Amino acid sequence: MPLSPALGVEISAVDLCALDEAGFAEIRSLWNGANGLAVIRDQQLSPEAQTSFSRRFGPLFGEDDHFQNSVQPYLLPGHPTIYRVSNKKSAAGESMGRARAGSYWHSDVSFRAKPAMASLLHAIEVPEYGGDTLFASQIAAYAALSPAMQQLLAPLNAVHDFRVAAQTSGSYKTSDLDADDFDGTNRAEHPVVIAHPESGHSALFVNPGFTSHLSGFDPEESAALLDYLYRHITRVEFVYRHRWRAGDLVIWDNRATNHLAVQDYSADRYLHRSTVIAQPPARA
Ligand code: OGA
Ligand code: MN
Repeated sequence: MPLSPALGVEISAVDLCALDEAGFAEIRSLWNGANGLAVIRDQQLSPEAQTSFSRRFGPLFGEDDHFQNSVQPYLLPGHPTIYRVSNKKSAAGESMGRARAGSYWHSDVSFRAKPAMASLLHAIEVPEYGGDTLFASQIAAYAALSPAMQQLLAPLNAVHDFRVAAQTSGSYKTSDLDADDFDGTNRAEHPVVIAHPESGHSALFVNPGFTSHLSGFDPEESAALLDYLYRHITRVEFVYRHRWRAGDLVIWDNRATNHLAVQDYSADRYLHRSTVIAQPPARA
């Protein structure tokens, strides 16, 4: 069932732990057909099951490439492919995950030369209400630009840098950060308009969370153009707002969407994310 005109498909009555090749191909094609967002209901996924399902999309962070050091404390002990997103604390007072993860519009890991392709987020415990996640279709956003703006953006590149989120989002404390966040590993240049390798669609690939500037422009020029694009790419008609239920597995394509976690709750929230590694994005 479609979830919104811009993006998203809801899939129910499937068990991801018992999915043959044809079943997986069908989910992948529904996901691509829905501009890179699928909500799969009622899944009981152990960390092992989530990892093996995720691996069907491609290699994972935590296996081939690794997340930066400052993310390491949030990985599930013994499961380097599972990133815990949570505001909960253990009985000993330790964080059970990254609190306030992604409270700005972003595309996961866009600051790496090989960024994230799919992210798979499994809800284990969610507030009764609040703690929604917003997803914006960057394919719909690109398609809505005038031909003149599309032409202007076509040859441009943008620099993405984890430093932007670390220093401006207000959601990282100095103690959360590590020298390798700033050593160049977490900084990359990508085209502003990318071609989706599976669907062929063009998508905008900039985000206020991690994009630092447009290459070759003066800082004010870059800021003016990016400011316009940030307003454009988050217009409400490109957005689907997901209200979580425990058991949801939401799969988004970071090459076709940006997302934002709404910080409007205090009740316990605990989710597991696995993250598939993409090839360097290609210019459209
Ligand atoms: C993420 C993220 C959103 C949320 O896990 O990549 O941005 O709602 N989380 O927790
Ligand atoms: Mn994210």
